[in-house]
Amino acid sequence: MSDRLYIFDTTLRDGEQVPGCQLNTVEKIQVAKQLEQLGVDVIEAGFPISSPGDFNSVIEISKAVTWPTICALTRAVEKDIDCAAEALKYAKHKRIHTGIGTSDSHIKYKFNSTREEIIERAVAAVKYAKRYVEDVEFYAEDAGRTDNEYLARVVEAVIKAGATVVNIPDTTGYCLPHEYGEKIKYLMEHVDGVDKAILSTHCHNDLGMATACTLEGVLNGARQVEVTINGIGERAGNTAEEEIAMILKCHHLDITTNINTQKIAATSRMVSSLMNMPVQANKAIVGRNAFAHSSGIHQDGVLKNAETYEIINPKDVGIDDNSIILTARSGHAALKHRLEVLGVEVSDEKLNDIYQQFLLLADKKKEVTDDDILVLAGAERSASHSIKLDYLQVTSGHGVRPVAAIILDIAGEKFRAAAEGNGPVDAAINAVKDIIKRKMTLKEFTIQAINKGSDDVGKVHMQVEYDGSVYYGFGANTDIVAASVEAYIDAINSFKH
Ligand code: KIV
Ligand code: ZN
Repeated sequence: MSDRLYIFDTTLRDGEQVPGCQLNTVEKIQVAKQLEQLGVDVIEAGFPISSPGDFNSVIEISKAVTWPTICALTRAVEKDIDCAAEALKYAKHKRIHTGIGTSDSHIKYKFNSTREEIIERAVAAVKYAKRYVEDVEFYAEDAGRTDNEYLARVVEAVIKAGATVVNIPDTTGYCLPHEYGEKIKYLMEHVDGVDKAILSTHCHNDLGMATACTLEGVLNGARQVEVTINGIGERAGNTAEEEIAMILKCHHLDITTNINTQKIAATSRMVSSLMNMPVQANKAIVGRNAFAHSSGIHQDGVLKNAETYEIINPKDVGIDDNSIILTARSGHAALKHRLEVLGVEVSDEKLNDIYQQFLLLADKKKEVTDDDILVLAGAERSASHSIKLDYLQVTSGHGVRPVAAIILDIAGEKFRAAAEGNGPVDAAINAVKDIIKRKMTLKEFTIQAINKGSDDVGKVHMQVEYDGSVYYGFGANTDIVAASVEAYIDAINSFKH
């Protein structure tokens, strides 16, 4: 009989820690429901004590999701655990994930403590969490750099205290794959009572080895993997869920998961779109080019028999290569079908709005792509904004000092300004600043074309600093100056005061 591997999805906790990727509760519920469809076993829904937003999201996700276990993160601190237990009260299956740093550098510099005291605190936290829930996971933060002998003592003590799962995070992404595998093997062989709990991998990608380390962990006995969609996460990210799922499928390892791999593409697109985190074109499994054969030799081989150069059937990850090409002549039904394939559910009323915008775009472009449609589906994020772009005219060119004239609609009232700049975007932003008289600094500004044509939709991501906080803004338009102004205004609309 094959071994079962549990998929612990931390897209909404470790993944969501990425600056600029924060989701509101409604968006988190949307992702959580998609993860349920994908078949994950555990959803880490947040770190409830960290903010009221996280607390509330854990509550709402617990109500919205039925099958997966809902997990909440805590430090090894009683008030964190109380808060997590409260947030999990509606979960049908619940888990508290508590833990503490175990490497010498964490013990010395973070906690100014000793190895013995850390074991006591770890055991106390697990016992405390057990008062609320049966399913308690313990994490030994920075286990990747923790000496194996001491780590084994920690793991043994927390299992004795009742931990059902023990997480061995390579927090800094330092381990070589064989070292990480040996660490899991060491624990499997040296921890008394290891069979009473599941060992879990949690690998970060700082050196690009997260997937390899996770796989080594599994091959050496770990039976839970902590992963995120598209590998998103702090710094270089976490282990990519889609990579682990497809490695297990392609290599026919005798290890099974509950993942419905045909939902991978839609889940990836949803996470990328809601978190405004573009997927690199050559990203394994879910990148735009992952199945695109461009060299003549490869195309010839694939046309003769796909097996020559394709180790994965694109249909297995939910990419339908016979997808309908959407043009100005496509109807509502085709658009609705495409949105469903992309994992976006819309009401009839919203579909109508998106369809009107789709027709405008289709008039400008020969073909409307999946990315365009996702942008349109998210475009009405500006509908609830109190500040909206009403009018924009820019004059620029060679030998001309760029000038922009702008009208903003602020809560129904029109405000006008004109300004110069050293480029058209600069001029337009200066005009916005003339109306919104606040001390704002543009920290980051990226423009991306969705495809490659000059008729393309440009997506703009911005970070604007105001009053000590950084706010994220997004805009999409066939006119990149307009997209930039929309992104700037989007950021301003999220200012807290
Ligand atoms: O990377 C890490 O160590 C973590 C823990 C909090 C589980 O994310
Ligand atoms: Zn982590």
